[in-house]
Amino acid sequence: MSQILRLGVNIDHVATIRNARGGAHPDPVKAARIAAAAGADGITAHLREDRRHITDADIEALARDIDLPLNLEMAATDEMLAIALNHRPHAACIVPEKREERTTEGGLDAAGQHNHLSPLVRELRGARIRVSLFVEPDPRQLEAALSLGAPVVELHTGAYAHAVIDGDTAKTAELLEKIRTAAAFGAERGLEVHAGHGLTFDNVGPVAEIAEIAELNIGHFLIGEAIFSGLDSAVRRMRGLMDQARSAAGKAA
Ligand code: PXP
Repeated sequence: MSQILRLGVNIDHVATIRNARGGAHPDPVKAARIAAAAGADGITAHLREDRRHITDADIEALARDIDLPLNLEMAATDEMLAIALNHRPHAACIVPEKREERTTEGGLDAAGQHNHLSPLVRELRGARIRVSLFVEPDPRQLEAALSLGAPVVELHTGAYAHAVIDGDTAKTAELLEKIRTAAAFGAERGLEVHAGHGLTFDNVGPVAEIAEIAELNIGHFLIGEAIFSGLDSAVRRMRGLMDQARSAAGKAA
């Protein structure tokens, strides 16, 4: 099964730079518009509990002013549920969140937190928000997503990305295989499979080749690269690398 691979651009770190000085520049909504024009299929924003980057006002503006589907990353809390129900983004990706972490470290324990997650998933689905669970590429977590009734899982690619940076080829191959196996396991059971975290120009190809993956969510690298080449160029190049990898894999299959 090969399908179109969507690119969700995570604009959190545009807000990180803005917040370093306060004020309104650079504007995440402007970044979302540039990403859209450069080939993004969706915009992702994580409203963290500590509001370290994206703010409530950003979510309001993004939900109101952008044409692309908005994917709200959120912790499994009542506060975030109320915000999601208020703004009704196209999708909500439930992520684990710890105040001290630098970024989302590790996936959600969907299996261990079944009772906590169940009403949240139900309420979001009831509001026609597409629910995704950000999990490790582990069939046990995908089974849990299925039993929770989440239609989408996003596979955490952070460990794979780290192995590439470390130059550990054996580990890279092992982690990539886990992502492949999880993607096939999920797709066979009717889940829509996404992936993301730590993806760059250098490591996106092998993940983009996996035919069962429908969407990649990429943020930090693109915003960092935008400093050197501009956001338009960074998104276009990422889009091109994804398309190239997917089409080469399709021809080889
Ligand atoms: N997907 C999820 C669920 C995330 O939490 C993040 C980081 O906010 C990303 C994708 C994007 O990761 P990165 O910024 O490393 O590209």
